[in-house]
Amino acid sequence: MKSQPTLPLPHNQVMPQLGFGTFKLTGEEGTEAIRTALECGYRHLDTAAMYANHREAGEGLRRSGVARNEVFITSKVWHDKLHYDGVVDTCLNALEEIGTKWLDLYLVHWPNEEIPMEETFRAMADLISDGRIRNFGVSNFTVRRLREALAETDAPVAVNQVEYHVHLNQEKLLRFCRENGIRVVAYCPLGSGRLVNDPELEAIGKAHGKTAAQTALRWLLQKGISPIPKATARARIQSNFAVLDWSLSDDEMRRIDALHRNERICDWDRGGFDADDPAE
Ligand SMILES: NC(=O)c1ccc[n+]([C@@H]2O[C@H](COP(=O)([O-])OP(=O)(O)OC[C@H]3O[C@@H](n4cnc5c(N)ncnc54)[C@H](OP(=O)(O)O)[C@@H]3O)[C@@H](O)[C@H]2O)c1
Repeated sequence: MKSQPTLPLPHNQVMPQLGFGTFKLTGEEGTEAIRTALECGYRHLDTAAMYANHREAGEGLRRSGVARNEVFITSKVWHDKLHYDGVVDTCLNALEEIGTKWLDLYLVHWPNEEIPMEETFRAMADLISDGRIRNFGVSNFTVRRLREALAETDAPVAVNQVEYHVHLNQEKLLRFCRENGIRVVAYCPLGSGRLVNDPELEAIGKAHGKTAAQTALRWLLQKGISPIPKATARARIQSNFAVLDWSLSDDEMRRIDALHRNERICDWDRGGFDADDPAE
């Protein structure tokens, strides 16, 4: 298999830039989708305790025949489990359910201002020392919350996984993350399916023989972001992976930048997205 682009993480790790999202992929259909993704070449799986599909991820990996150490696996701990014991227990459960000795990345799924971040990150750092996880990070953190988080730990925060797509181009957050060595992972990279028939993306993609979905993913890759598209059927899984060997021009990137609409799909008030300092 050809090598694929990776993003460096702390602790001498790398993360395959294109990942596979697994929210709602459960049961036999979920297991088969995960196996298919690995067969098609994905080497980065995004799971979470909340998705209740760690067993499917483990089984999909075993059925694919791909070695564990060739795959980068992320899981996440839900916001009500951010006390020390909750972080550790959720991780140990994930390891048992997946059938693995380690997670490559372990994320705080959503912030929780009622639990001190220092405690959450202390648990994360201990899990690294014990070899249970290789990196930790956060998800759904605004710039304000990232600033607070960085003040609470000496250990590197490797990743911020956030909603990022053509209609929600979070340039300020991306810049802050870049300046602080935090990789951005893009969830809902296809706008949860809303972008796949977008006429402007279709027109830009057509010049390259590519679809709107592929164009939306390529735009993220060229920004140095890690998209994690989810799909169920083989044809879509395969087509979403066919984005590594072609490029958008600078002019095309700018045309896609202009499609930003500040349209957030996962607009849960827990994220505090509106409260972020508008001057950031
Ligand atoms: N950290 C967080 O809080 C958070 C929040 C949301 C999501 N996530 C992660 O991000 C992943 C991706 O986000 P998402 O699943 O919400 O949205 P997405 O990847 O943007 O879009 C997935 C949707 O698009 C459809 N689709 C995929 N490829 C397609 C193609 N080539 N042509 C037409 N339709 C296509 C899928 O349908 P089918 O499945 O029917 O093929 C599904 O309905 C999740 O699975 C999860 O791992 C994280």
